[in-house]
Amino acid sequence: MNQYYIGVDLGTSSVKLLLTDGAGRMIGEATETYPLSFPHPGWSEQDPADWWAAVQRGLQRLLAQIDPAQVRGVGVGGQMHGLVMLDANDRILRPAILWNDTRTGKETAYLNQEIGMEALQARTGNIAFAGFTAPKVLWVRANEPKIFAQCRKICLPKDYINYLLTGVFATDVSDASGTLYFDVEHRRWSPEMLDLLGLDETMLPAVYESGAPIGRTTLFGLDAVVCAGAGGNAAAAIGTATVRDGQCNISLGTSGTVFLPTETYVRTKNPALHSFCHANGKWHLMGCILSAASCNQWLVETVLQTKDYAALTPALTPDAAARQLYFLPYLSGERCPHNDGAVRGAFVGLTHADGREAMALAVLEGVSFAIRDCVALCPTPIRAATVCGGGTKNPVWMQVLAAVLNARLQVIRNEGPALGGAVLAAQADGHPFEVAPAVEAVIEPDPALVAVYEKKYAKFRTLYPMLKDFFKEEL
Ligand code: XUL
Repeated sequence: MNQYYIGVDLGTSSVKLLLTDGAGRMIGEATETYPLSFPHPGWSEQDPADWWAAVQRGLQRLLAQIDPAQVRGVGVGGQMHGLVMLDANDRILRPAILWNDTRTGKETAYLNQEIGMEALQARTGNIAFAGFTAPKVLWVRANEPKIFAQCRKICLPKDYINYLLTGVFATDVSDASGTLYFDVEHRRWSPEMLDLLGLDETMLPAVYESGAPIGRTTLFGLDAVVCAGAGGNAAAAIGTATVRDGQCNISLGTSGTVFLPTETYVRTKNPALHSFCHANGKWHLMGCILSAASCNQWLVETVLQTKDYAALTPALTPDAAARQLYFLPYLSGERCPHNDGAVRGAFVGLTHADGREAMALAVLEGVSFAIRDCVALCPTPIRAATVCGGGTKNPVWMQVLAAVLNARLQVIRNEGPALGGAVLAAQADGHPFEVAPAVEAVIEPDPALVAVYEKKYAKFRTLYPMLKDFFKEEL
């Protein structure tokens, strides 16, 4: 009898579902989109009901291809840090506040300055960033006290989907790591942080390792085990087999991340780097920028009003690269390394000669420089990395990134996070399979471009310190 697994990646612009066979080979996939709303500058919200509707549509489409009874497991990964609040009847109390929402400048400063980075790092492994869940809890408590008073359950985006699939209120260690009320070293909620936030542990989901079974789902003819799942980046690391010390995976989705597995818990010297639990029972370090492929999407779709990405593939030569045009990719503020929700995007150095192509190249470079800012936080030099996510579709970007990082890149075109979900589902089912990531291309850094980008990156780094105060005050 056939056996199948379903991996789900609950992303920021869409949910991707992947159907694999028992050996992890892809049998089918489905993508369903949902809206993202920015009701005020710096805010970013989604309706959890839209996620659930999209997951159900995707599941129905996938299952139309096979006998649902042959699916043995489901694993959900997805966007991290989002605050989902439910009342005593499990009704959604307000739109989810997402990972790239930066409304919590005041709360983040309170946590880092009044409670103190030392204390936060000792309790949780991390300092506060605007996108983490704890500052959002404080924001709702201060600004929407009626909603806070009605709240009986708080969870992360993929945990809400797992709750509806199974009726079991659960989370996993990798996603819980991004809340700032989880003790990453000891893989459990932090009682001191819960106290500080006014949360009772009964409001929080039970914590599991990512590949552990939490329950079963019988929706749409399924009778499958559901695992705890993982935060999207840990799921992508599982899906790209980034599980050992010395490896590095870079993901270019709406966000951009640099992910390094570690054997043991690491208390970072520079706390701009996150220290989280991995989905493989160990730990990892991570740098995250808030706008990566979304910058390219903004230029092509919002500014140029087209969907024709191929028509906007700039020519990449050392001369084109040497143009003094810079793009700061801070369209949603920035997480790593600046931890600054107020900073905004900018083109610097425009001339009459610069058109679409020059601007498109500057965007690819600016995002690559911001990724290098994250790489610069890492304790060891990165000479090679796998790269996954939507940004890998742009071959020029891969050349730019390889040269900016002076690193050899292996481009993985499978659905990293969704495949990671399927891997974890198979583990929960007791029939684990190994992933062999399909390397679509290997990009060696071009020495002529490396030389140009070394100098250009040095200049890029001077822009944020010059501009940061400019954005602090509103008109
Ligand atoms: C990671 C982060 C993003 C989101 C995007 O810390 O905030 O990668 O998980 O989905």
